[in-house]
Amino acid sequence: MTEKTHKVLKAARKRALIDNDTYLSWYRQSTKNPEKFWNKHGKRIDWFKPYTKIKNTSFSGKVSIKWFEDGVTNVSYNCIDRHLKKRGSQVAIIWEGDNPYDDKKVTYNELYEQVCRLANVMKSNGVRKGDRVTIYMPMIVEAAYAMLACARIGAIHSIVFGGFSPDALAGRIVDCDSSFIITADEGLRGGRTIPLKENTDKAVEIAGKNGVAVKNVLVVRRTGGSVGWVEGRDIDYQKAIQAAKPECPPAKMKAEDPLFILYTSGSTGKPKGVLHTTGGYLVYASMTHQYVFDYHDGDIYWCTADVGWVTGHSYIVYGPLANGATTLMFEGVPNYPDAGRFWDVVDKHQVNIFYTAPTAIRALMGAGDDFVKRASRKSLRTLGTVGEPINPEAWEWYYHVVGEEKCPIVDTWWQTETGGIMITPLPGATDLKAGSATRPFFGVQPQLVDGDGNVLDGATDGNLCIVDSWPGQMRTVYGDHERFVQTYFSTYKGKYFTGDGCRRDEDGYYWITGRVDDVINVSGHRMGTAEVESALVSHDKVSEAAVVGYPHDIKGQGIYCYVTLMAGEKGNETLRKDLVKHVRQEIGPIASPDKIQFAPGLPKTRSGKIMRRILRKIAEDDFGSLGDTSTLAEPAVVDDLIENRQNKQ
Ligand code: WTA
Repeated sequence: MTEKTHKVLKAARKRALIDNDTYLSWYRQSTKNPEKFWNKHGKRIDWFKPYTKIKNTSFSGKVSIKWFEDGVTNVSYNCIDRHLKKRGSQVAIIWEGDNPYDDKKVTYNELYEQVCRLANVMKSNGVRKGDRVTIYMPMIVEAAYAMLACARIGAIHSIVFGGFSPDALAGRIVDCDSSFIITADEGLRGGRTIPLKENTDKAVEIAGKNGVAVKNVLVVRRTGGSVGWVEGRDIDYQKAIQAAKPECPPAKMKAEDPLFILYTSGSTGKPKGVLHTTGGYLVYASMTHQYVFDYHDGDIYWCTADVGWVTGHSYIVYGPLANGATTLMFEGVPNYPDAGRFWDVVDKHQVNIFYTAPTAIRALMGAGDDFVKRASRKSLRTLGTVGEPINPEAWEWYYHVVGEEKCPIVDTWWQTETGGIMITPLPGATDLKAGSATRPFFGVQPQLVDGDGNVLDGATDGNLCIVDSWPGQMRTVYGDHERFVQTYFSTYKGKYFTGDGCRRDEDGYYWITGRVDDVINVSGHRMGTAEVESALVSHDKVSEAAVVGYPHDIKGQGIYCYVTLMAGEKGNETLRKDLVKHVRQEIGPIASPDKIQFAPGLPKTRSGKIMRRILRKIAEDDFGSLGDTSTLAEPAVVDDLIENRQNKQ
C-alpha cells in the first residue's frame, strides 16, 4: 500500500525548533546514549538539588523505573514560580466558558496567588505530603489550581472525570484511600448541568460503607445551583480561599515522589491507578509539548481535552505551564451553541496551536464546511489529534478544510501509561501521511512483535512494544506493583506491551491499528469491556453478558452488548432502556451501550471461554468469515446470534 505523502510545509520548516536533520541526529543520540541525552534535557526544568543519577530502569524481573532519582524539585514551582520574573503579567490560562459570552484570563501572577491560597486551605485542613486528593471537577480554572496546589504541597491528586457516576467515583476514592475531595456544585456542558456535588455526596456515602471516611469536601460554586451541605465536612471554596494566605512555599519533592494517580481501563478487572511521579514526568511532558507542537514563546495553545483524562494533565496543565505557555481551557462541547464553536473560539482568542480528538473532527466534518468557513482561522499554525486512530478522510478534512493546507497535523500516539506523546510527527521535520502517527519521539524505541514475541523487522504488522524506558513512563499501579508487572511486562518478557496493534510501512512510519486486547475506545474514551460486562451482570435480570466494540462512524467504536437473561425473563425495549440506564448508573454516561442484543446463549469453547472473535464479527455484521466454529460447545447459538444481530446493514 502506498499512501500520499504531504511534504513538510515550507513555513513550518522555516520556523521549526527541530528540522529533519536535527530530529534524526537527536533521535540517534537519545537511543544510543540515553544517559547523555536525558542528562542534557532533564535540565529543562529547575531543580532545587540537581540530579547526578539519570536513568535507572529495568523492564525485567520486578521492573523498576527511576529517572533523575537523586534530584529534588517541585512541579508547581516549575509551572508557576520560575516564570514570575519574566512573565508574571503574561496570561497563563485563558478560560472559555460553556456560554460563549463567558470567559476569563488568569496571569501567572494570579495563578501563583490562587494556587498558594488553595494549597494553604488544603494544608490547614490537614492534607499532607503523600496524601491522596480526589478532584471531581468541571473544566474550570479551579481544576488547574487544584492540581497545582496538590503538587505544591506534595499531595497526590487523583482526578476523576466528571462524566463518571457516583459508583465509579466511590471506587476510585476507596482504591487510593482518599479523604479529601475537591468538586463543584454543578458542571455545565452544552447548556446542561451535571450534578457533581450530588454525585460526590453519594460517592462519599458509598466510600464510607467500604471503609474509607472522607473528611472534607471542598466545593467550588460554579452554577450557584442548590446543593446539599454537610456541616463540618463541606467547605466553601471561595470563602476558604479568601481567608487563606497568598504565599505557600513549594514542598521539596524527590524526582520519584508521586505526582498523580489516574485511573484507566484495562482488559481485565477494575480500572488501574496509573501512578506518575515528579521529575521525569515533567521533563517529558514539557519537552514533548514544546517540540511536538513546535511551541514558541507567545503562542496561544489550545488542547480541547478534559483534565479528567491524561491529555488534560500533560497537555492542558503540566506541559504547557512548565513551558510558560498560554493554555486555553474550554468548559463546553464542540457543538454548542452550534458546530462552529471550536473555530469561533480559535478566532476569538487567536489560537495558534489546536489539539483535539478524531471523534470531534468526524462529528464536525459531518456538520458541514460552512461552520468552519464562517471563522477566519488565520491564527492557526499547527493542528493535532490524539486518542484514537484517525481515519484518512477525517485527516484530509482537518488538513484541507480546517487548516487550509497551511497547518501540519501532528497525529500523536500515546497512552495514560506513557505520560506523554510517544509516536508523532514534528511539524517542521516530518513528512505527513494521513492516518499515520509517523515516527517515534526522542528516546522512544518501538518494536513490533508477533503473537509469540518474535521481533518483526521492516514493513510489517504486529503488536506494539516499547523496549526501553523514557522519563514520562508510569512507575507502578498504585498499591499493586505486581499488577503493573503482569499487565505490561509479562506478555513479552522484558518489553513494555502497549496493548495496541500497529503497522510499520516501508518508510518506517507507524500506523496504530487499535487495541488488540479487550479494551475499546469510544469517542477517545478508553473502556474495558469487562467493566461494562460487570455493570450489566449486576442487573438482577441479567445472567451473563459479553461486550465488544464495533466500528462507529463518529465515535470510532460503539459498545455492543450481548446479554443473556435470567430464566423466565423476556428481552424487550423497556428492558433495553433499563439496562442502558443501569450501566450509566454503574459507570457513567460515557459507557452507555449503543446496541443490546438479547441472546439465549453465548458462543463458548468446551472449556467455557467466550469466543469474542465470533461476537466481534457478528457485531460488525461480517459473519461470512466467522472462522473455525467447530470448537464451540454449542455451534447452534451462533445461528441465533446472527439471526438477531442488531447491526444488520
Ligand atoms: C489509542 C490517550 C491511534 C491507543 C492519550 C492507546 C491512539 C489508547 C492514538 C490510549 C493515536 C491514542 N492513534 N490510537 N494518535 N492516541 N490512541 O490511555 O489505542 O486514554 O492505547 O490515552 O488510545 O488511551 P488513553
